[in-house]
Amino acid sequence: MNADNVEIDGATARQANRENWEDRVPLHEEAYGLDAYDDPAHLSDVVRHDLPVLTSFLPDGSLTGLDLCHLQCHIGTDTVSLARAGANVTGVDFSPAALAAAARLAATAGVPATWVETDVLHARAAVTGDFDIVYTSIGTITWLDDLERWATQIASLLRPGGTFFIRDGHPLLYALDEEAENLTLRYPYFGDGRAQRWDDASTYVGGGTVAHARTYEWPHPLSEIFSVLIRAGLQILHFDEERMLPWRFSPRMVEVPGGWAWPEAERNLVPCTYTIVARRP
Ligand SMILES: C[S@@+](CC[C@H](N)C(=O)[O-])C[C@H]1O[C@@H](n2cnc3c(N)ncnc32)[C@H](O)[C@@H]1O
Repeated sequence: MNADNVEIDGATARQANRENWEDRVPLHEEAYGLDAYDDPAHLSDVVRHDLPVLTSFLPDGSLTGLDLCHLQCHIGTDTVSLARAGANVTGVDFSPAALAAAARLAATAGVPATWVETDVLHARAAVTGDFDIVYTSIGTITWLDDLERWATQIASLLRPGGTFFIRDGHPLLYALDEEAENLTLRYPYFGDGRAQRWDDASTYVGGGTVAHARTYEWPHPLSEIFSVLIRAGLQILHFDEERMLPWRFSPRMVEVPGGWAWPEAERNLVPCTYTIVARRP
């Protein structure tokens, strides 16, 4: 899939992205396997993967009773899972359809949750209260043009001593050609303020297509991610990189426990995801 690098103002890009995400919601409600959440013990693969690391940085080693804000919560599968792990959850997203789907899932699961519709870059003003944990994962910051602002929202949502957790696609992965026969660099690793404009009616699960195919994403190198968090006043506690991710980035990826990975011979060549845990002092 080709992406053009374009100058675009944040509001126009966000409008296009929101229309695209609105269209994806009914497709994802079909394809995410929501029936599995009828089992009160069921947790999403993402949360099951993240819990041991996240809880290892919490004072009591548990989410129980902690206030957690989940940024870019989409249709709530991870939010409901975090609630089942004991947290009082608030899910934040800019897609009303996603939040309505999330609320339906939580109601069916019998899980209490608060849902807030806002651009994540304005989350502090929209969300009530402070949090012990801010969590975001898998498909987040490439949608944001202003990471400096993102990091300040996180810092101000956290209580002193609060913990921030992110696991997401590695920026080096996003620089690779998903269509090539071997590992080939194709897209920028570093940002230059311009957006990558995509025209793609498909989505990452199921076979459906969306009416609003145009989206805008921004590359964010690791140096930028660390810098904005540190400048927002957070202390980095943990950093990790993994060889597996929970969606099929390229048709050449093979299924492995918990997700997808490059063929074995290439698995040590590039990271697929990174995880950062940080704390507000
Ligand atoms: C890839 S999904 C997150 C997926 C989530 N990890 C899951 O599998 O359920 C990205 C989410 O970010 C939301 N989003 C994108 N840009 C946003 C923004 N500027 N503010 C708030 N939400 C945004 C979309 O509506 C979508 O629900």
